[in-house]
This record gives sequence, C-alpha cells and structure tokens, in this order.
Amino acid sequence: MLHRLSKKTSALGLSDRIRSIQTDLNEGWPHLETSDLLWAAASLHHMADPDRVLAGAFDNLRPGGLLAVTEMDFFPRFLPDDIGVGRPGLEARVHAALNPGPSVDWTEHVARAGFVLEAKRPFVVDLPAPLPAATARYAQVCLRKLRSHLDGQLPADDLAALLAVLDSDGPHSVLRRDDLTVRTTRTTWAARRPTTPGGWRQGHPHHIQAPTAHPAGPAHFIRSAGSSADVAADRAVSAAGSGAAGSGADAARARGRVGGHPPALTSEQIADARILLSAGQTRIAVAAKLRVSRWTLSRALDTAPR
Ligand SMILES: C[S@@+](CC[C@H](N)C(=O)[O-])C[C@H]1O[C@@H](n2cnc3c(N)ncnc32)[C@H](O)[C@@H]1O
Repeated sequence: MLHRLSKKTSALGLSDRIRSIQTDLNEGWPHLETSDLLWAAASLHHMADPDRVLAGAFDNLRPGGLLAVTEMDFFPRFLPDDIGVGRPGLEARVHAALNPGPSVDWTEHVARAGFVLEAKRPFVVDLPAPLPAATARYAQVCLRKLRSHLDGQLPADDLAALLAVLDSDGPHSVLRRDDLTVRTTRTTWAARRPTTPGGWRQGHPHHIQAPTAHPAGPAHFIRSAGSSADVAADRAVSAAGSGAAGSGADAARARGRVGGHPPALTSEQIADARILLSAGQTRIAVAAKLRVSRWTLSRALDTAPR
C-alpha cells in the first residue's frame, strides 16, 4: 500500500511533500512531529488495543487538532437477489449466518482518550451497475473471505451456489456478472483535541458532547478521489444534514416547503434508508443514523412513493 502511495505521489509530482512511515501501532506510536489531522480509515478495529492507540493519537495531535476515524458498518453487498443459481437471497443468508453484530461504536473510546466529539456521520455507499471490472474482483475477494467462515453455517445448496459464484471460470462466476452493485455504509467520527487542559483526558468525561448538527466541515476530510462513492457519501451527508439541522422557516424554505408541515425525511434520505434496510440494517439502526425516531422513519417509508 505504501509502495502504491509513493508511486502515485511521484506521478503527481508530490513526492517532496508526502512521506510515508511503516509502523506497527500495536508497538506504540513512532516519533513524529505533532499533527493537525490524524485520519484512521478502516484500520482502528485492527488494533490489539484501540484505546491505547487513541491515547497515542491524542498525544500526537496538537491541541485543537482533529482526529477522523472511519469504519465500514458492514461488509459490502454486491449481488442481486436472484443470481441465477441456487435459491434467491443467497447473499443475505450469507451475511445473516455470519451475523457479525453491530460494528464498534468509537464514540465512547474517543471521549475516553480525551477528545471532544464534533460529529459522527454515516456515509451511504450505493454504486449501481454497471461498474468497472475491478468491482467483480473486489466482490470475489470479499465473498471468498466470507466463505472461509461459513462451514457448517449454511445448507449445502447455498454453499454449492456460493462455490459456483466464486469459481472464476464457471458460468455463474461473479467475474462474469455485469449487474454487480456495491452497497454498504461507513461511519466517520470527527473528534478534536481540546485546546484547554480542562478538556484533557484524565477525569473529564463531562467534556463528551453530543454530535453537532452536521456542520459542513468534517465532510471535507472524508472525500477522496471524486469517485461515485464520494457522490453517494456527499448525498448522504446533505440528506442527513437536512434532516438534523433543517429546522426553522429558512431551512424549510431551503427544502422547498411552500406550506403545511415539512417532510420529516427527504426523498434522498428515504432512498438511503431503503438501501440500508435492504442491506439488512434494522429500522432502529437506520432511524438512529438519520437522526429521526423509528416512528418517523416508518411513516416516511410507508407514505413515500417508490
Ligand atoms: C482494511 S485496511 C484499510 C486500508 C486503508 N486505510 C483504506 O481505507 O483503504 C486496514 C489497514 O490497517 C492497517 N493496520 C492493521 N493493523 C495495524 C497496526 N497494528 N499498525 C498499523 N497499521 C495497521 C493495515 O496495514 C491496513 O492498511
């Protein structure tokens, strides 16, 4: 990965501005100058002792500096319901069998390390077909990984169908499909090292704050290469933002309200909610992500056009 990074930075003429360090954070933090921004993408859950790594992150950030932690909420889903082999719903049964439970919520952990949470946001990734060929290889790698945990967890016909999907050369191979999608969500925590000693780690849990109503800032840290994932993420941010922060007449007007009650969820939020539900998330979890009550979510799902 570092090799790829260095190839890319030199191709872009940025080699003199970017330095990579290979280190095992389980062994402690390397000696670094203090940073303005630390960003852990899909990595904190790998650490043997995440709290110790977060404490190190705190020490390595300047006061006022920002920590961003991003994690995938669940393994991506790729396949349509009916894949032409075996019974429909195979991928849903694969995920249900492994039932990894909710992903780690880092909120308490970053607070324990002394950070003040500024935002916690879900990002919906929903890439429709057709997708580049790399998607099929990505799907194959992910499904192979899942298959390695499935012995004895699924009926024989499902395992046989999964084998057919994983077989690179077979007629049902995932590599031959042109209808793959990528559906998942990521959650990002943005937390700041306080500038005042009173906000620091030991003995000040009261400095934990509820996430703010989606200020525009942290989204900038989460964008990467202008991919369609970013477009989906942006859409989720603006949708989530309009739900959480959009109170008052100005916000209502901005949403196009001309009279009566404003809709509790925008059509984009409802579309995101449907994706999350079809990916196996519970209504409670989806409502929490969109910051509405379960009742509001259910009413929106029941009344919105499909
Ligand atoms: C799923 S990959 C994510 C890679 C990349 N950040 C991304 O978002 O695509 C997990 C990353 O965590 C890193 N990692 C796992 N354990 C680590 C450790 N003890 N110290 C440092 N990095 C570690 C791995 O090297 C790997 O790059």
